Amino acid sequence: MSKLFEPYQLQTISLKNRIAMAPMCMYSAEDDGMVTPFHVVHYATRAAGQVGLIILEATGVLPEGRISNKDLGIWDDVHIEGLKQVVDGMKAYGAKTAIQLAHAGRKATVEGEIYAPSAIAFNDAYKTPTEMTLNDIEKVIEAFKQAAIRAEKAGFDALEIHGAHGYLISEFLSPATNKRTDAYGGSQENRYRLLRQVIDAVRSVWDGPLLVRVSAEDYAENGTTMDDFIVFSRWMKSQGVDLIDVSTGGVVQANINVFPGYQVPHAEAIKHGAGIPTSAVGLITTAIQAEEILQNNRADLIFLGRVLLREPYWPLHAAKELGEEVTPPTPYVRGW
Ligand code: FNR
Repeated sequence: MSKLFEPYQLQTISLKNRIAMAPMCMYSAEDDGMVTPFHVVHYATRAAGQVGLIILEATGVLPEGRISNKDLGIWDDVHIEGLKQVVDGMKAYGAKTAIQLAHAGRKATVEGEIYAPSAIAFNDAYKTPTEMTLNDIEKVIEAFKQAAIRAEKAGFDALEIHGAHGYLISEFLSPATNKRTDAYGGSQENRYRLLRQVIDAVRSVWDGPLLVRVSAEDYAENGTTMDDFIVFSRWMKSQGVDLIDVSTGGVVQANINVFPGYQVPHAEAIKHGAGIPTSAVGLITTAIQAEEILQNNRADLIFLGRVLLREPYWPLHAAKELGEEVTPPTPYVRGW
């Protein structure tokens, strides 16, 4: 049997295979963060395509923490019902469901003030953020906690904290963006403090599977490297995080040499260096490539992004390629 189609136990939940849909913003929400019929269809389609775990796009825990005003929101109870419809649509086809809880920090492009560890703009196209006070930090931690409570009410099986790509948490982790001189800046431990407190706050209300997405490399001289993330990942493990979703980049502008599987070494280094399950993501497009990563024990799950936008039924083709039997969704059985 292939490893890609082997079930995977993620804390309390069992995934039917190792294929996950990476979180991808669809910029299709109503202005107030509400789900639309598009989201229900979009995510249910990937579930029908037999993706084992689907992670909903970056969803704002605060309105000022959205990448755009078309991001999904989870900052108010009014969002729960729509998210529940998306969850039900995915569950109807046997997928396990997760949501990425996010705060965009200095990369928010919404109206009004935006916030970051330090008052440095990402580039000329972005607003200069306000340096966060300790009260602002408290508010963000509480917002992640409340978002976790709402996500549970909406029925999600797992949560992912967005700690990658130069959004708020990632900005705190990196010395390239965090110039603070208080308890939240300077040493590795201080830069990790916000993520530590967010994880603890979420864990105080959520005992299900918890993932954290990180950018394990800034590709910048004054930025973080894989070694920092091996340390951070050990800390995350000790706080009860179940899996690190390993991405890279996005913190500062950088030239990144992108090629098939380019982030796999990061997932592999963290998996073995910190002794915690990881997922690999980034230009993984073929079943053989996915199988190689899993069989060589380089990561535990395969996250697919763009290839699942182009081909929602990717897992069905992958099964054929690897000689696996996959039970199709019931309505398709007669035509199988
Ligand atoms: C993304 N990505 C992304 N990442 C994330 O953590 N949260 C998000 O909401 C988004 N949004 C998003 C939208 C779109 C349209 C794309 C293409 C990408 C990054 C994504 O999850 C993934 O890491 C990358 O796309 C690399 O994987 P692929 O596409 O090469 O398989």
